[in-house]
Amino acid sequence: MFNTINPISINKFYQDELIHFKKRHPKSSKSKLNLSNIFFNKYPMNWMADWSLPFLPLIQKAQGSQISDIDNNFFDDFCLGDTASMFGHSPKAVSNILKKQLSNGFAYMLPSHDAAEAGVNLNRVFGKYQWQIANTASDANRFAIRVVRAVSGKSKILVFNGCYHGAVDDTLVELKKNKTVNAQGLTGQVYDLSKGTVVAEFNNLQQIESLLKKNNIAAVLTEPVLTNCCMVLPDKNFLEKLIKLTHRYNAFFVLDETHTISSGYGGYGRQHKLKPDLLVIGKCIASGITSAVWGMNDRFSKLYSNYLKSKKEGRSGIGTTLSANPIQFASLNATLTKVITKTNYKKMELGAKKLEIGLNKIIQKNKLDWHVVRVGARVEFICSPGPLKNGTEALKAHKPKLERAIHLGLMNRGTLIAPFHNMMLISPVTYDKQINKLIKNFDAVLQNLI
Ligand SMILES: Cc1ncc(COP(=O)(O)O)c(C=O)c1O
Repeated sequence: MFNTINPISINKFYQDELIHFKKRHPKSSKSKLNLSNIFFNKYPMNWMADWSLPFLPLIQKAQGSQISDIDNNFFDDFCLGDTASMFGHSPKAVSNILKKQLSNGFAYMLPSHDAAEAGVNLNRVFGKYQWQIANTASDANRFAIRVVRAVSGKSKILVFNGCYHGAVDDTLVELKKNKTVNAQGLTGQVYDLSKGTVVAEFNNLQQIESLLKKNNIAAVLTEPVLTNCCMVLPDKNFLEKLIKLTHRYNAFFVLDETHTISSGYGGYGRQHKLKPDLLVIGKCIASGITSAVWGMNDRFSKLYSNYLKSKKEGRSGIGTTLSANPIQFASLNATLTKVITKTNYKKMELGAKKLEIGLNKIIQKNKLDWHVVRVGARVEFICSPGPLKNGTEALKAHKPKLERAIHLGLMNRGTLIAPFHNMMLISPVTYDKQINKLIKNFDAVLQNLI
């Protein structure tokens, strides 16, 4: 028999933890940010509201795998900027290079020698592509979508239910009663996004094929593992079959590795010998300095060059002023040569395995029908039975009130995990003792809830 956690104990625990939280953050609670309306709703960025706290702690410093706030609270950081700092905060190799670049200009609209180096470094780590630099993975996905539509002359893309590819209108859709609709809650979206996108369930090749047959699909865009609902792993050979199917219907395959770069050196695609037509990576690719990259394989880049030769003159609508700036290239190169190393990935994987095993033990000890999923350095506990097959199952598995209580309980005990789902990352500079403490804190929180 499994234990269940009742809503009354969740609420009581959360309220008690809020009292502790307020006591532990007197300076943050009285800060300008939290007392006045200088930022809309107190948050400098929308997503920060997801911490579900009455006010946010103000961060003083982040170094390696630790982050501290103005009230002198220290946290072992397993959120790591929601992947932006997956390799640790301010890696020395990157901050040293940045110090040099800082007196050589921030933005030129012209490349430097570093740009050429970055291309070579990207190819060494991810395989042979022709690259473009963007500021965010959202931008990179948006541009990838534009070029697949341009080259194929087809209008629609196919994405999966439960996906997230950034602030990209075309992908902010979901399945409702088996129909593609605008995702619930979109602000100010006036277009029917189903005109340009169809949604399928992950791991459902039959449904995907029928959609490819019926629609004019330019590309399938996916993460190799759904990471933005509760994590969903691909069935054995699902991705290989998906790529073949996509090509059979003359569509392109775009792989978004923004999160799954956690998988190992070169990302999930390289680890599993997948060959996407386009590849997108963002967040930690330059150790958290605003950067993203998108690459096109040989076949696609030739098709894109031909398209460009035949296209009418005028703005392409691809690119932004600040992308491909020298700060990005300096941090990209330092990250790709000194931070993204096989040795670092080995350390990350070892630590993540330790965390996975530890959390599973605590779940079993507390007789809960929960499960843990790991993709390289990325670990998530899911407060429902698993494994999950698709986005619909993943969205049902999500338990917002329970998760928010666990997050706060962990935070008050000095362990920070992502406010989105129950995501934890192991950096190359995460210590074993921090992992042990997280496991111990997880147990302590559960003891309070059961
Ligand atoms: C898989 C994936 N792609 C793209 C993005 C967009 O990244 P950004 O917010 O840095 O543009 C995200 C953000 O969470 C993501 O999870």
